[in-house]
Amino acid sequence: MGRVKFGLLGAGGFAREVMPFVKGSVAKTLLISEENINVYFVETWQPKESTVNGYSVLSLDEFIQLKGKKYFNVAVGSGRDREAMVTEVGSNAEPLSLQAPQATIFDCNIIANGSVFCPNTMVTSNASIGKFFHCNIYAYVAHDCVIGDFVTFAPGVRCNGRVHIEDYAYIGTNAIIREGTSEKPLRIGKGAVVGMGAVVTKDVPAGATVVGNPARVMEKR
Ligand SMILES: CC(C)(COP(=O)(O)OP(=O)(O)OC[C@H]1O[C@@H](n2cnc3c(N)ncnc32)[C@H](O)[C@@H]1OP(=O)(O)O)[C@@H](O)C(=O)NCCC(=O)NCCS
Repeated sequence: MGRVKFGLLGAGGFAREVMPFVKGSVAKTLLISEENINVYFVETWQPKESTVNGYSVLSLDEFIQLKGKKYFNVAVGSGRDREAMVTEVGSNAEPLSLQAPQATIFDCNIIANGSVFCPNTMVTSNASIGKFFHCNIYAYVAHDCVIGDFVTFAPGVRCNGRVHIEDYAYIGTNAIIREGTSEKPLRIGKGAVVGMGAVVTKDVPAGATVVGNPARVMEKR
């Protein structure tokens, strides 16, 4: 196998937080030595800088033109932006999940490709998680949760058991989500936003933004 190329889309704050564990994670997943992996920040527009934190920055076109086997992931916080970037990459590179060494994933979880698990995150048991999930530092997913595609957990999210979260939902820093029951899981609807620090005790409608303790829908102004 020649050198593997890994492109991390985005060179913003979150991408700079993810990059330090990319090589180790890719090496572990592909069972190859870190010495055989080149990693790059990849921008979907012409990059302003050629390096960020010592890593080369390529445009998406430059990344696509690299020869050999290419993998990628997307480190931007908005699920819908992530989806657009995944579409732009198309079949030019293969998605690969990233997991920091300090992330813990226990038993019988089903996690689709493209996830990012940052340091000190946790998935306990029997959760099902869709594609391109982001679990930022110190966030957790507890037992029997069902999480859709392109969902984002900001730092410190506490998602307790039997919670169902639909596609594109964004859960803000340190939000706490009450556990559901097997008869009635707590549901957070498609594209909903849970504000930082919110304590979610009831279902959240699709597209709504909720804040506060207990969390209430924030009226649009
Ligand atoms: C809820 C949220 C999406 C609202 O954003 P917004 O629509 O831009 O709202 P604004 O900042 O204009 O604030 C509107 C009002 O809501 C209040 N507010 C905003 N976020 C709030 C929150 N999380 N909890 C309680 N009140 C909040 C503001 O103080 C403001 O109150 P005012 O009208 O009395 O001045 C946003 O504040 C939030 O919590 N985002 C998550 C941030 C995060 O976790 N980032 C992680 C980065 S890794």
